[in-house]
Amino acid sequence: MAATTTAVFSIFFVLLPSLSAASSSPYHSAATLFQNYHTMLTTFKIFIYTPSKPFDFPNAATASLFYTSLRRSPFLTHDPTEAHLFFVPFSPDTSTRSLSRVVRELRNDLPYWNRSLGADHFFLSPAGIDFSSDRNVLELKKNSVQISVFPVVSGYFIPHKDVTLPPLSTSTLTLLHAPVEKSTATSFLGYLRWDGETESQLVNELKSDADFFIEEKSEPPPPLNHIRGFTESKFCLFLYHGDVASMVEAMAWGCVPVVIVDRPIQDLPLMDILRWSDLALLVATPPHGGAAARLKQVLNGLSEEKYGEMKELGVAASKHLVWNDEAQPFDAFHMVMYQLWLRRHVIRYSRSEIV
Ligand SMILES: *[C@@H]1O[C@H](CO)[C@@H](O)[C@H](O)[C@H]1NC(C)=O
Repeated sequence: MAATTTAVFSIFFVLLPSLSAASSSPYHSAATLFQNYHTMLTTFKIFIYTPSKPFDFPNAATASLFYTSLRRSPFLTHDPTEAHLFFVPFSPDTSTRSLSRVVRELRNDLPYWNRSLGADHFFLSPAGIDFSSDRNVLELKKNSVQISVFPVVSGYFIPHKDVTLPPLSTSTLTLLHAPVEKSTATSFLGYLRWDGETESQLVNELKSDADFFIEEKSEPPPPLNHIRGFTESKFCLFLYHGDVASMVEAMAWGCVPVVIVDRPIQDLPLMDILRWSDLALLVATPPHGGAAARLKQVLNGLSEEKYGEMKELGVAASKHLVWNDEAQPFDAFHMVMYQLWLRRHVIRYSRSEIV
């Protein structure tokens, strides 16, 4: 614990200069974050129920990294009476019927579910779960905190309650080598790495526009093209339901992310911590014709001053969106834990009512 505390403080001081240098910080409230983060490290306790059979999440995915880090973390307790939150583990391929049984057993066999009808419980489901006609699953869906992968299918995410995992970067190498000083000269207005599958009028139009660098995804990914895209473009474009994996790398390299999405979204990672409105642009484009023109209008409409600020804040914010095999202070794992910590206050019925 002593080692963790030292590490936290050294990071804290490393972050401070960049905060004061920037005209503003990428956080909703830097003071609240740093103070509460420290309290979280020393007090947060999680109780994990034993799964009916051992399972794991697909390797090298964010859910697996989160699950592994959680089980290795100092947040675990074997004493449910001191737990702030309860984790309900189940395999990603669990059927609604089996999931209903999991919740029913918790409800009937242990006193903790009934105290808040699951509001101090959380679960990890990469795709998220849908509303269900089954009472147990519905209660889990409506009351417990869901952790799933960004972006979430519409209807599978409840704003302000649920949280998403930041996307896993395609290459930690490009993250580590992101330059500290950004060049200001760019050859392209926007860069898009297209997965070759997601149908998009916009992509069709952008392919024939010299202001844009459209890279078609090929196997294996050419990291050099990637870096060229980040460094030579002002903006990095992402289709909301396309490939968002390199969003964090783009930010680290000073390429301001632009998410193409036709509706307001509330499932961005670390929504309670980061001020996304100053980190990324969300742009809706018309489905039939004129998509590229509309996009260019929005991108060219951003003032140089605002652009410079977004770029700088994006670099600072990217540090919190990075996954590590061994969780590090203030990284993606700890920031997701922090979002859970913010959700720990729930009404519990008094002990006398439980029996
Ligand atoms: C929780 O409440 C239900 C009624 O909704 C009840 O059937 C069940 O026995 C209670 N669980 C415990 C452990 O008391």
